Amino acid sequence: MTVTAPPRPRLAWQAYADWFGTARRASDNPSDRHNDKMTTEERVDNPLRAGMRSQRTPEPNTLVIFGASGDLTQRKLVPALYDLALEGLLPGGFSVVGMARRPKSHSEFRSEMKDAVARHSRTKPLQPSAWDAFAANLHYCSAQFTDPEGYAQLASMLEKIESETGCRNRLYYLATPPNYYSEITGRLGEAGLASSDDCWTRIIVEKPFGHDLASAAELNRTLLGVFAEDQIYRIDHYLGKDTVQNILVFRFANGIFEPIWNRRYIDHVQITVAESLGVEGRGGYYEQAGVIRDIIQNHVMQLLSLAAMEPPATFEPDAVRDEKVKVLRAVRPIPPEEAQDSTVRGQYGSGVISGRKVVGYREEERVAKDSAAETYLALKLLIDNWRWAGVPFYIRSGKSLPKRVTEIAIIFRQPPLSLFPSTDGSRIDPNVLSIIIQPDEGISLKFGSKVPGPQAALRIRPVEMDFRYGTSFGVAAPDAYERLLLDAMLGDATLFTRRDEVEAAWAFITPIVEGWAKAQPPRYPNYEAGTWGPDEADEFIERDGRKWRRL
Ligand code: BG6
Repeated sequence: MTVTAPPRPRLAWQAYADWFGTARRASDNPSDRHNDKMTTEERVDNPLRAGMRSQRTPEPNTLVIFGASGDLTQRKLVPALYDLALEGLLPGGFSVVGMARRPKSHSEFRSEMKDAVARHSRTKPLQPSAWDAFAANLHYCSAQFTDPEGYAQLASMLEKIESETGCRNRLYYLATPPNYYSEITGRLGEAGLASSDDCWTRIIVEKPFGHDLASAAELNRTLLGVFAEDQIYRIDHYLGKDTVQNILVFRFANGIFEPIWNRRYIDHVQITVAESLGVEGRGGYYEQAGVIRDIIQNHVMQLLSLAAMEPPATFEPDAVRDEKVKVLRAVRPIPPEEAQDSTVRGQYGSGVISGRKVVGYREEERVAKDSAAETYLALKLLIDNWRWAGVPFYIRSGKSLPKRVTEIAIIFRQPPLSLFPSTDGSRIDPNVLSIIIQPDEGISLKFGSKVPGPQAALRIRPVEMDFRYGTSFGVAAPDAYERLLLDAMLGDATLFTRRDEVEAAWAFITPIVEGWAKAQPPRYPNYEAGTWGPDEADEFIERDGRKWRRL
């Protein structure tokens, strides 16, 4: 769409544009605005920044956040927008409307957001002039999500903002508790806010997306009754992490890994999402979710699909998502009657993590004293296709573990013949390629090397070839929400989950949860906070003659 800019009175967003130096060279093509601000030296010294800057800038738009008083808005969304603004990546004519139940003035909302940004933004300290320019475009609309009047109020607020910016592109963000998703979607439709003729309207839906296959399918039907699939952006923040995106680059932009990325060379794969934090005041939500819904159904299934998918025909959103869905559909189901034996569940008791005493899960706020929610899960899954037949994927995730680390490890097969028997009779360690998603982002390859020395008995020790983002690029990666908000504004859905993808993940998870519901839960708590989960998880993998990686 072309944005024409007739002379207008000085407006709030222009203050923002002036601050970032965009208004002076405002052109009708917003896409080039920021690229020419980087010097050649900056591009060379700072490739990540140059990469982000060379992206298109979105068209002017208004972001409406439903659930503006919530944690997500304060910790992630508004800080990410502020950081994008500092990078010069938001368009002139960008505004935010926060919508929530509590009555509040625009200025109260701005001051709350200021505190949130000061605490949670990636760029510290807060830059007062940048904040003022950004905050001028923050608005607040107080309404009950169930009240049609609230949507009429929103509509008139949007019209007022849009009469100033001259642009009717709208992006809705559902950051409320999930029980409001259907209600808000329906109300937006009724109020005529779901489409606009010559501009775009999109909706971002936060997790949890349903609590089982039936509810996810139902939510999809509700959304699709009001919005078209290409207007819907189902978010999984793991896909916004640079290191997660790099899985595809690593596999498909390099010639040497893909030929060995299959059952002929790979013994097994381990995916670990370990968190050292507990439920952090989210006990009410976690009681209903457990780790299987909180982490496995979404983040882990995404990591799995990226690590295991076939190369897409192009890097277009649907080509990438077609391949992800295919691999998810090839995951061998775990039927309810096998759920108990094919998984290991755990729940933490009190313990010590990094010298800090922590309470057990059942002592957390809003958690039942006899809670059956699992805070740890280990499972093995198989992918029934030509690439992966017979290669187990071992998954583990838990809260209150000794450290925070997310890793995908590819453990290769041993050489066919052992020429170098070790002195103690044990086998030489296998080669391991480890993709560290966080916190010490990088990729390393472990291989055996001769220990230097003239001794007759040749000794071999594992060593590592290491790539670290920090060292190679020298810049901190942007927060996942920055990338995803920007992509949604640009209309690029590659890093968002499609309808069939979310349902394929639930189709695998749901029978497991159903199987657990029919069986006795384990005797909880069964691991101490600060340890690597229940002992049964070690026995589980050792039954296959393998071991969890020590991280
Ligand atoms: C969220 C979960 O989706 O991901 C949280 O609800 C979890 O329980 C968080 O702590 C982990 O995200 P990250 O980016 O810190 O790994």
